[in-house]
Amino acid sequence: MSDFAAIRQWLENTQDEPLEDMGGFFDRRVDTYEDHMRPWRDYYRWLGELIPPQAATLLDLGCGTGLELDEIFRLRPDLAVTGIDLAPGMLARLREKHPERKLTLMEGDYLTVPLPSCAYDVAVAFETLHHFSPETKLGLFRRIFAALRPGGMLLEGDYTAESDEMEAYLFAELARRRARQGIPADVFVHFDTPLTLEHELALLRQAGFIAEVLGWRGEDNTPMIRAVKP
Ligand SMILES: C[S@@+](CC[C@H](N)C(=O)[O-])C[C@H]1O[C@@H](n2cnc3c(N)ncnc32)[C@H](O)[C@@H]1O
Repeated sequence: MSDFAAIRQWLENTQDEPLEDMGGFFDRRVDTYEDHMRPWRDYYRWLGELIPPQAATLLDLGCGTGLELDEIFRLRPDLAVTGIDLAPGMLARLREKHPERKLTLMEGDYLTVPLPSCAYDVAVAFETLHHFSPETKLGLFRRIFAALRPGGMLLEGDYTAESDEMEAYLFAELARRRARQGIPADVFVHFDTPLTLEHELALLRQAGFIAEVLGWRGEDNTPMIRAVKP
């Protein structure tokens, strides 16, 4: 069964489940989150290896409990990291794991928190960007571009929609659920709306990045994207 067929079937079986707010969704699952993500271990390890040796500062968007930071700090314990997340419980778990590191954590929305300009060598966004419309994502990519130093890079690891049809279906399903549950468009809820790889790369390039796919996580639709600020 394709990803799309499996996801559509799962959504049909769960269509009466209430939408949850984004931060609350993850905080309610903080005790099981890392076990749930265990199959992704090699992918986080790969990300750790992609941090350039000369990098000194890193911005982690949607850092959660920091599974990617566990791997990054293993290789680069000296790195100064700023992590942003909406979920205070996830951030508390991350802080407990790395008390010795140069780690600044901000509880907030990375779409709106002020970011310093030309401040970071690397930005990472892991399993967090599959919730936004193309317009919102373009605005975010422009913010990340401005926050990076020239020559800096965004490393993005996230699953993509396997077709335009899947992408359109998920946005339509989210709109249906919002309408049924009376949740306005400006309330941020947890519901996956990944873009196709083609659309994701086009937005990164529109924001000014030189973007390429470095490879894939196993057999699924999860690329590792490197987007460099020239
Ligand atoms: C699936 S978790 C990924 C966490 C971590 N990056 C990892 O790979 O294990 C997604 C995280 O993104 C955060 N998130 C989603 N949208 C966000 C936003 N607009 N601002 C800040 N955090 C956000 C969620 O709260 C959650 O902790």
